[in-house]
Amino acid sequence: MNTSTRRQFVRSSALATFAAPAILKAATADKINLAFIGPGGMGSNHVKSMCQRKDVIFSWVCDADAKRAAAAAKTIQELTGQTPKIASDMRQVFDDKAVQAVLMATPDHWHAPGAILAANSGKHVYVEKPCSHNLREGRLMIEAAAKNKVCMQVGTQSRSTASISQIIEKLRSGIIGDVLVAKAWNSQLRKNHGHQPATEPPAELHYELWLGPVPKVPFKRTYHPAHWRWFHHFGAGDFGNDGVHDIDIARWGLGVEQHPDRIIGQGSKLFFDDDQEWPDTLYCGFEYDIAGKTKQLIYEQRDWSPYVQEGHENGCAWYGTEGMVIGGKQKGSWQIYGRNNKLIEDIKPTSGPDLAAHHANFFDAIRTGAKLNADITINHLSTALCHLGNIAARTRQALVFDPAKEQFIGNADTSKLLKREYREHWATPVG
Ligand SMILES: NC(=O)c1ccc[n+]([C@@H]2O[C@H](COP(=O)([O-])OP(=O)(O)OC[C@H]3O[C@@H](n4cnc5c(N)ncnc54)[C@H](O)[C@@H]3O)[C@@H](O)[C@H]2O)c1
Repeated sequence: MNTSTRRQFVRSSALATFAAPAILKAATADKINLAFIGPGGMGSNHVKSMCQRKDVIFSWVCDADAKRAAAAAKTIQELTGQTPKIASDMRQVFDDKAVQAVLMATPDHWHAPGAILAANSGKHVYVEKPCSHNLREGRLMIEAAAKNKVCMQVGTQSRSTASISQIIEKLRSGIIGDVLVAKAWNSQLRKNHGHQPATEPPAELHYELWLGPVPKVPFKRTYHPAHWRWFHHFGAGDFGNDGVHDIDIARWGLGVEQHPDRIIGQGSKLFFDDDQEWPDTLYCGFEYDIAGKTKQLIYEQRDWSPYVQEGHENGCAWYGTEGMVIGGKQKGSWQIYGRNNKLIEDIKPTSGPDLAAHHANFFDAIRTGAKLNADITINHLSTALCHLGNIAARTRQALVFDPAKEQFIGNADTSKLLKREYREHWATPVG
């Protein structure tokens, strides 16, 4: 097959896979009409990175915090000369037929409700990690993307980072033999948030919109901005926050594309005396049965460490029958050891995870049907590990899981924790 025929073949077969009106419409457009939802801390990184592209119409910025929405609109104005409309209620964005894609960087409790509404409005979705607040929501997101035939990319940008995919290729090539065990760690010094009383939300924050469909709780200064992630209502602790990046890379290298069969977990607050609800110290283990073989994945977290572990604040190790690999995504450096710890390869630091490449992959998928590097089906398997490990630690149980049914076996009470409670609200996910 010559190059141009091959290109045509790849293009037509990709389009055949995604023969959806929304995708075909975008494939013919020069520019992608994009709305930002939640352009706060990480969201403002997305804004700055996206503003380097020449193929974006910045149509909306939507934030429940009016100051943050205005700041994002100003950045876009300064960097591109475009003037996006400003909203506080994301339904305005979903109602705009011109919008083709949304980039959601809200707190985790809004990921599934917002992404499902966006997909149901025919928008392609880039949603931050962890994809969901609880396991059931991840499944509903997969269903919404499939039903509406839209792309749903999750914000684990390591999946689009060359230095990381290269190490995964080396693992696949058998450089350390059969990889039976992988470990991800999160070892860093976080902050004490103290004990905060409930208070009035700041004037710029529409707290009702910020809360969304989760049960109503009075505002605390520790919730907004950014520190909502340490509370059960809004986040999944540091496992779902930083840990999800590393467990995702570890699972990728281990080569498992299914849920685990058995889960153990132990987690407590050993260090911080403050309002945070998730453990500062956590150990989880996951065991997979794959075609008659067993593989294990381990997660370690100590949020009070003024030192790093094995050279990396956040890192991964893979243990094979012939050697091991140790390294971390942030520096992009990896050491490959063979038998008797013989150093086979020392991959020097390159650069950190590549956000722009992850955006490019999202746009390629919208335009051509290219495969998403962190499709919702991929990230659901990694985010589920955070939810399952957290449940094992919270309930202090060794759990047996049915990967097909996404339920704990013989444990209906604990299976209830795979979902959350919502209040009656326009964004409550159905299913
Ligand atoms: N991929 C990465 O490397 C990376 C890094 C940091 C954070 N994140 C993720 O990004 C997300 C945001 O984290 P953050 O630290 O920026 O939090 P943040 O609190 O700083 O920002 C969240 C923004 O969402 C807004 N928001 C909340 N509810 C909204 C609603 N209903 N409609 C519109 N806007 C709403 C908030 O007002 C805020 O501006 C999280 O999911 C986090 O896990 C990803």
